[in-house]
Amino acid sequence: MKFFIDTANLAEIQEAYDLGVLDGVTTNPSLMAKEGITGEDQIRAHYKAICDIVDDKVSAEVISTDFEGMIREGKELAKIDEKIVVKVPMIKEGVKAIKYLHSEGIRTNCTLIFSAGQAILAAKAGATYVSPFIGRLDDISFDGLELIEQIVHIYQTYGFSTEVLAASIRHTMHLIKCAELGADVATCPLKVITGLLNHPLTDKGLAQFLADHAKAAGK
Ligand code: G3P
Repeated sequence: MKFFIDTANLAEIQEAYDLGVLDGVTTNPSLMAKEGITGEDQIRAHYKAICDIVDDKVSAEVISTDFEGMIREGKELAKIDEKIVVKVPMIKEGVKAIKYLHSEGIRTNCTLIFSAGQAILAAKAGATYVSPFIGRLDDISFDGLELIEQIVHIYQTYGFSTEVLAASIRHTMHLIKCAELGADVATCPLKVITGLLNHPLTDKGLAQFLADHAKAAGK
């Protein structure tokens, strides 16, 4: 299972990368705005700075909602760095754009997936990744994890090469369940990745080991 970090914050990306378990980054216009990144030049420079930290797979989202605009933006984003994956929303024009970008050899991440039908469309169009938003489904009393299970099953049944990128992950149990269900990728905030480290018995056990060592050494 690949781990992506869902942020545009460079310090957080660096911290996750330094942990040695980071496979990529996802951003969206809200996450870029949160970092105060605005204007075309600043946005391009920020994507480049992210690409310079990680090894591959940096999702950069288009803002256009028409086919021509998405194609133009997608090509421009892909030129920033070969690590860029163009993120395209699940709308009619987006499906056409994914098909086109795929034919041009540009990797895509189809975002805002909330149903199995949308995931099938994205896979048929040739999306590299689909991003089902599990937390936002849970927020409205739908089972986000059930959607992951459904998409994984459908993709396996038909041999689709599109990878299931579980997004909108809110806590460590989401991540662990996604791993159990066979999601190819999980994108999460830094606190979810580092949250996997925590267990009180680990802390207690380590404290005991160190205390016993110090006692035996006469300290
Ligand atoms: O990047 C897309 C997704 O992960 C957003 O998550 O927490 O805003 O629902 P959230």
